[in-house]
Amino acid sequence: MWTVRTDSIRYGCAGCYPPHLVAAWADVEMPPDFVHELRKTEFFVAEDAVGVLGFAFLDLAEGQVKGVFVAPRAVRRGVGTLLMKTLEECARSAARAHLQLNASLNAESFYRSLGFVALERTLWRHSNGFHLPCIRMSKVLGRGNIARERLH
Ligand SMILES: CC(C)(COP(=O)(O)OP(=O)(O)OC[C@H]1O[C@@H](n2cnc3c(N)ncnc32)[C@H](O)[C@@H]1OP(=O)(O)O)[C@@H](O)C(=O)NCCC(=O)NCCS
Repeated sequence: MWTVRTDSIRYGCAGCYPPHLVAAWADVEMPPDFVHELRKTEFFVAEDAVGVLGFAFLDLAEGQVKGVFVAPRAVRRGVGTLLMKTLEECARSAARAHLQLNASLNAESFYRSLGFVALERTLWRHSNGFHLPCIRMSKVLGRGNIARERLH
């Protein structure tokens, strides 16, 4: 899972951030409490016969999407959309009215395609101390159906 996250950042963020910021974000060791932290979230994985295609996780209490990462081999096939629709359905089931997130600059179009709107540019502080320019975005959750999208 950590490898998918790291590869996804290296591949997806390269055009939008200077190399030192991509490296600062991607090239960190997996924190020892990573799995423990994931277990506190609503966490979904997409996989095929080869392995993990991507994963996404949500802090349900805060209504905050904490991360969406799709493996380079699987981008632009609808995996990210499927994962986000699943998080949205999960939030709706818990009667949440909104979702919010900090979008990396490369991911703004992706979240816009899902109906999120940009609120402000912000700096997300990584636990390692560096700051990543991001866009705070939110979405009002209407009624919806369980994700039925097919991958292209
Ligand atoms: C952002 C990310 C999650 C998108 O996942 P994905 O599975 O490739 O996205 P989808 O195939 O579901 O794309 C849905 C739509 O989003 C938009 N979109 C997705 N990636 C895009 C890109 N790189 N540039 C412009 N629009 C994009 C398009 O409208 C796309 O529809 P289309 O392919 O029919 O044109 C993935 O690229 C990724 O993991 N990036 C690196 C990690 C990252 O930045 N995560 C977000 C952290 S906040």
